[in-house]
Amino acid sequence: MKKITIHSPATVANLVCGFDILGLCLNEPCDELSVEISPEPGVQIINNDDFDLPEQAEKNVSGAALLALLEETKDVTGFIITSKKKIMPGSGIGSSAASAAGVVVAANHLLNNRYTKQDLVRFAMNGEKVACGVKHADNIAPCIYGGVTLIRSVFPLDIISIEAPDLHITVVHPQIEVRTADARQILKQQVQLKDAIKQWGNIAGLVAGFIQHDYDLISRSLEDVIIEPVRSILIPGFYEIKKASKVAGALGGGISGSGPSIFMLSKDAQTALQVEAAMKNVYDKLGVAYHTHVTIINKSGVKIV
Ligand code: HSE
Repeated sequence: MKKITIHSPATVANLVCGFDILGLCLNEPCDELSVEISPEPGVQIINNDDFDLPEQAEKNVSGAALLALLEETKDVTGFIITSKKKIMPGSGIGSSAASAAGVVVAANHLLNNRYTKQDLVRFAMNGEKVACGVKHADNIAPCIYGGVTLIRSVFPLDIISIEAPDLHITVVHPQIEVRTADARQILKQQVQLKDAIKQWGNIAGLVAGFIQHDYDLISRSLEDVIIEPVRSILIPGFYEIKKASKVAGALGGGISGSGPSIFMLSKDAQTALQVEAAMKNVYDKLGVAYHTHVTIINKSGVKIV
């Protein structure tokens, strides 16, 4: 096989309290990417969408990810990537991770799956470095593994898949762009001990809630006392959306990744749709343009089509 096409899904990083260490894979939206082995050295990129992303491999997130893989793959000279993105860059649902993770999974299939999932995360993180300057794995890992993932450590990589109940996710994306690099820049570099204690209580509570399918514990643990108070100022109507979603029955939620998208978890599909209606109502009143997605957890990650 010389060419392969995959669907690479959106992801929600942080899951409110787990900054840089927790992430969840969404069933939709997905990018469509093709990877082809090429006799030409290096990585050639063809963009089949309107996002005007760089076509120079070193400056492109999927290019940087495949260059990292090529460096360890002595029997292949080059790849051609054809990319049709549906996940808007700067939306907060793992657009760069979908590009970077998607191409390394596709290339690995062309190479008879010689690399482990952890290797693929390691390659794909080079794409995140291009996107925001930091090799974080909380979008890449769930995109490759599917489901909910915990990144206990990045150097060295230690990724744990967390079993979770069948949650329903509502995402609202106010039509503004927040660059992850900017949203990281504004964060405080020091944390008060009392806040740290609350935060790690919530992270442990959320993970336990997932494993035990304890919806009340999940709901109580979806609290962020460190990142959200700073980043929420970048998102129009953030607290109104949060309040209306809870009234509509959501278990809880918050900023998706570095924003501006906001996500909410619900127990069932009907509640997730009620949450969507509540979100729409808030943004219609505020005159904010938006897109919404109502979806479920994607348990398998990047999919070959
Ligand atoms: N953990 C990263 C951040 C995710 O919040 O900056 C970016 O999508």
